[in-house]
Order: sequence, then C-alpha cells, then structure tokens
Amino acid sequence: MAVGKGRNGIALGKVARREVLAGGAVLAGLALGGSGSVRAASSRVESLIARMTMDEKAGQLSCYSDMIRPPVGDINPLVNQRNTQQILADTRAGRIGVLMNGVGVEGALLAQTAAVEHSRLGIPLLFAADVIHGFKTVFPIPLGESASFDPTLALRTARAAAIEASSQGLHWTFAPMVDVARDQRWGRGAEGSGEDVFLGEVMAQARVRGFQGPDLTAPDSLLSTAKHFAAYGAVAAGLDYNTVDLSEETLREVHLPPFKAAFDAGCLAVMSAFNDINGVPSTANKQLLTDILRGEWNFKGVVISDYTADQELVAHGFAADDRDAARLAILAGVDISMQSGLYSRYLPGLVAQGLVPMSVVDNAVRRVLSLKEALGLFDRPFRSIDPKAQAANTATPAMRALSREAGARSIVLLKNDGDLLPLPTRGKKIALIGPFAQDVDNILGPWAFFGDKSLGVDLATGLREALADPNLLTIAKGCDVENVIPGGYDQAVAAARAADVVVLAVGESQNMSGEAQSRTEIGLPRVQQQLAELVAQAGKPTVVLLRHGRALVLEGAVKNARAILATWFLGSETGHAVADVLFGKVNPSARLPVSFPHESGQEPFVYNHRTTGRPAPQADDSQEYKARWRTTRNEALYPFGFGLGYASFALSDLSLSTTRLAWNDRLYVTAKVANTGKVDGEHVVQLYIRDRVASRTRPIRELKRFVRVALKPGEKREVRFTLDRSALMFVGDNDRWIAEPGMFDVWVANNAVDGLQGSFELLGA
Ligand code: NOJ
Repeated sequence: MAVGKGRNGIALGKVARREVLAGGAVLAGLALGGSGSVRAASSRVESLIARMTMDEKAGQLSCYSDMIRPPVGDINPLVNQRNTQQILADTRAGRIGVLMNGVGVEGALLAQTAAVEHSRLGIPLLFAADVIHGFKTVFPIPLGESASFDPTLALRTARAAAIEASSQGLHWTFAPMVDVARDQRWGRGAEGSGEDVFLGEVMAQARVRGFQGPDLTAPDSLLSTAKHFAAYGAVAAGLDYNTVDLSEETLREVHLPPFKAAFDAGCLAVMSAFNDINGVPSTANKQLLTDILRGEWNFKGVVISDYTADQELVAHGFAADDRDAARLAILAGVDISMQSGLYSRYLPGLVAQGLVPMSVVDNAVRRVLSLKEALGLFDRPFRSIDPKAQAANTATPAMRALSREAGARSIVLLKNDGDLLPLPTRGKKIALIGPFAQDVDNILGPWAFFGDKSLGVDLATGLREALADPNLLTIAKGCDVENVIPGGYDQAVAAARAADVVVLAVGESQNMSGEAQSRTEIGLPRVQQQLAELVAQAGKPTVVLLRHGRALVLEGAVKNARAILATWFLGSETGHAVADVLFGKVNPSARLPVSFPHESGQEPFVYNHRTTGRPAPQADDSQEYKARWRTTRNEALYPFGFGLGYASFALSDLSLSTTRLAWNDRLYVTAKVANTGKVDGEHVVQLYIRDRVASRTRPIRELKRFVRVALKPGEKREVRFTLDRSALMFVGDNDRWIAEPGMFDVWVANNAVDGLQGSFELLGA
C-alpha cells in the first residue's frame, strides 16, 4: 500500500475554492489568508497572568448568559442565571471573562465599563452570541443557504450578519455550525450544510471568512466558532444529545474535515459538543480537544464548552461530581466553561490540591487573553459599542435586499411538470392555501432568536406585491401546523375550487427542527397531509411550497403535485424571495444539500454511503437476498445535488487529460455544459469520484468539486476541474490519510446519481 503525505483536508479545499469561485470577485479579497491568527502570547498577556489571582484566572475561563440584557426567547435552559447586579459585581471582581447572548450597546457599555474601569486588572469582557444566520435581518437557515452551492453568497450573508451584530456590541458568534448531518431525524441539520463533507468544508470556510472579515480587530469583525466538536451530527437515531458510536475512520473522514477547513480559514474558536464518542464525552475528550486539535492541527484558538456541557459529564456517568467534571474538562482541553460556573467554583481548589497543574490553567488563560488581544480589545475595549453604528447598521435596505436575494437563491425546484412554473403575474386566480400562507412566526427558522419579526414578509404579502392584480389572490389557512381548525378544510377546498392555480404552503413549523427537535417521522404533520389530499380533489394545478429544516418525506397529493419547491426557512424576506421564484423574476438554481428519501425508515440516508457485498440492482428491486427494503428501493426520491430550473442544461463531451494519473501529477476533467432552455439560467456542475477497489470499502460516490455556471439560452461552455492525489485520499490503517494506486470512476454530473462517467488509474509512486 502506498502511503501519501499527511492529508490536509484543506489542500483539497483550496484547489476546489479556486474553481468554485472562478469569477467570484466578492470572495477574492477575503479568500486567502483569513483574518484569524494569534501570535505567541505578548508581554502584556504574560504580565497579566503573572499578576492574576487564581480566582481571576478562573473568572477569565468562565462564560455566563448576559442577564443584563436577557435574550428574547428560550435559547438555553434557565440554569445558574445571574441578575444584572450579580453580573456587574462578578465582573468588577474579575470573575467573568465572557458574557453571552445579550445584545445592544447600552448593556454592553455598562458591563464593559465594569470590567475595564472597575475590575482590579481591567481585562475587557468578550461579548458572544448565537448569530447563526443573520441577526436582526435574518437570512436563510444555513442548510437552505447551502442549497445555493454558492460560497460567495454564504460569505456575503455572514459578513452582513457580522456588521449588524457587531454594531450591537458583539465580538463573537457561536457559528458556523459545521456538523455533518447524517440523519434527517436530527433537528440540528438546519444549522449546518447538510450531509456532505466537501460542501461542508467549502461553506464552513466561506462563513468563517464572512463573519471575521479581513481584519479581526475591525469593529465589524465577528470572531467565529466552529461547532460542535465533534461528531454531533452522528448522534444515534438522530436523537439530539444522544451517544455516538463511530469508527475512527468515519470520524476523521466525515466529521472532522469541516472543522479543519474552518480553522484553516482563520477560525479561532471551537465549541466542544454535548455528545460522547465511543464512550468518551467530547467535553472530556483529550484525544479530540488536545491531541488532534492542538497536536495534529496546531490550533491556536480557544475551546469553549457547549452550554453546561462540562457539568453534564456527571449525568453522562463520566465524572463523579461537579468538581470532578471541572477537572476532567480542563485537563482534556476545555479553556472556557459555558454557564455551569464550575471553573470558578472548583479550579482554585483543584489547583491548590495539585489535581490540576497551574500550568494547564495558565495555558487556558493565555489563550483567552491572547484572543482578546487578537480582537484588539485591550487597546480598544469599547470597540463595537457605538450607538451610531448600531442605528446605522441595523436592518439596512442593503441587508434586506441581500436577504431577499439569498432567499431566492436557496430555493430548490424539485418538480415542474408541464412547466407549470413560473406562474403568470396576471390573468390567473391563485389560491394560497396552508398554515404558512399568512404567517410570520415560521419564516425565520429555529435559530434566529434575535431576528426582528416585524421585518418579516410572509407569503401572502410577497405574492400580493408581485401580482399585477392583487385581488386575484385568495388566502385560506386550511389548518394549523399540527391541528385542525374549525371549518378550515372546507374553506380551503372552496378557495381551491374557485381558483385557477393552487399554491399550497405546507411543512414544518420552525419549532419542529433545531435543537432538541428530533423527529421519528420526517413527513408532513397528518393534518396538513389531509389538507393536501382534500385540496387535490378540486383538481387544480398545484404548486407545493415546502417549509422545513431538514429533508422531508413527501407522500400522496404533496408528492404528486405538479410543482414542488423546497423553501426551507428563508428568513426576513421569505415572501418576496418565494414570489421572485414563483413568478420567474428569479430562475431557481439551488441544489439539495441533503437527500430526500422515500420513507423515514430509510434514515440515516446519505448519498455517499458505502456499497455492500450484495448491492440491489438498479433495474430490478424485486431480487431476494439483496441489500434492499421490502417496501421501497434504497434510493432517494430526490437525490443530493438535485435541483431544476426554468432553463434546462445538457452535459456532454467528458474528457480526461489522462487516464493514467501519475502519483504527483494533476488530472484535468473537462466537460461541456449547454443551456438547452429558453431563458438565462445557472447550473451547478458537480464532480464525483469512486475509488473502485481499496483497502477500505469506499462510498459509492463522493462529491469532490462543483462549479456554478451562468449561461444564456443556446450558450455552451466548457467547465474544467482539477484533481490530484489529495482528492483521492481516505483514512486507512493507523488512522492515516492515504491514497492507493488503482482505478477510479469519475462523473461530471447534475446530481449524485446521474452524469457522464469516465475512469482513470492512479499510478503508484
Ligand atoms: C447550546 C447549543 O448547543 C449551542 O449551539 C449554542 O451555541 C449554545 N447553547 C449557546 O447558546
């Protein structure tokens, strides 16, 4: 077996980025380098450490909810909360290093003054918050935005979020979530980039660069956090917080690369996950938090625990009590304890008793202070606390326009029989039916607690504005998300009968995905399915608008509707964005970042699964003794990478620069893509590989590259992808990244199951 050089996930990322971003001027300035770097601790930091008491050290390693300005909504369990007076008193005593999830410059000024002017050493506070996909102006959920397959867009929305959030006094966001979601029953897939590693890497880097911008010390820079380290997206049965039992190969090959990609883009913080891996909770996992993170990857930033995750080591049955939990967490490599207060309570005693070396505490403090220094806080502790910036940078027209653009670019057209879409803006009576027709409570998504609901545009408003004659639109709710409403079905059916076209807005409420919102069945709530069946009896052409934070299972009248759009949670401008696509102002060009299975029972379902010894033949699913389900074929209803538009595209002329790739050489894969439709359109051309024979069974396909191409009707262009050995590597013996000589298949494709196929051989060294 030939062993390659230590495989660096990002080598792959860099090559890809150049291709992905060809022509992406917005990214060009930010793409390389990234803003995050921490130099060796400065003399200022060292002199502070030398002067700090043990209590002050433990204080710098403690993060608490900012109850000076309590967040709207239920972000986290209400444990160990402190009121305003306690927070200010603790800050003055040097017992707090980070405050989280409080926003607004007034409170920030109060707290920062207490830290800088009234504490003994004047160390500034860091203000952190969950700014996941926008702040006051909300952009599509990250999963939806990932459907754009457009890292430039992800960078732009993250930048806008950073500008808005930092103008309210924030320095730090707990985003991006880079967990690879392998099971759609898990609710937190909504916050990430879907099921694929490569798409996850590309999006992670774009978001880090967007949040942080080119200069970490700038007032509008928001430090990013890659979370949740690690393998949170692999919780058993998709049950949030559940245990993870995972091979080292899959951990390193699937779940770790997006973290590495984020760090390579300059991300300087990481959050330890709630889950255990193979019996060791992440928050006490030295192999993860120290050996891999610092030893293998040379990570210089800080590790923060998830909310009370250190204390939860007790419930895990891994720590004997709270004190033991604090010991295990700090020794494993958790620098900052979030909300539990365990570090303040127990570190002084643990050090005094020799159970935790002072050097371990000092190293953690050094990292936290160096981070504050890298953000420029020692020189300008009141950076980002400027009432004028707050007023000028919140919900600006430009941000709203970006939200609308991002929304439209995240919508995936799944079906369009007989070219029902786009709809005309005049001359047709439209019945907008469903619980989301006139609703702003479910447009922002499950992780948008700071979002300004008053900015929200619902579907009815968006559609009405787009119509030449708004009177042609009728609205019928039909039912609630999970409950019937009196007379609702009858009104909906009557509205459908009186219309020329039905637009049916159905799916999940925003509380059905996100943290702690695991589902066993990922279909529509029964009352909505019933609504769809009844409305279908009116026999009108129907467009289904799905709302969701995960892949859904579609059935009956929903599945059989003539047109289906996957619209996720699109944020503040939902109604406008949907109308733009519905009426053809925007030609949809997003692609699925998650596979839509036929049945919930197929989960965990991913396109890039390994083969088996008994694969079911594509053409004949009736054969016995094959890897198949009794009730359905083991394939997707809509595969990863799939999406239609109002144009159509044809791929042709696949060509490989060589079919014998030398060990250190490059392979250029080219193909032609033509717009065979009647309107301008954008296509996402995808490149997949398969390693035919290896010392580990390999996925049946793996996405390695993609590129967005804009074409006019009749226009044809060549796309070119570059592959080298780094794209062909996997984790083999001794957990090392290796490449093995041999045959590979390659597809230039429209999605994970079609494409033009070629093959080549990787020659040995
Ligand atoms: C718990 C969540 O798991 C994490 O993603 C979030 O950042 C923290 N709470 C803080 O709100």
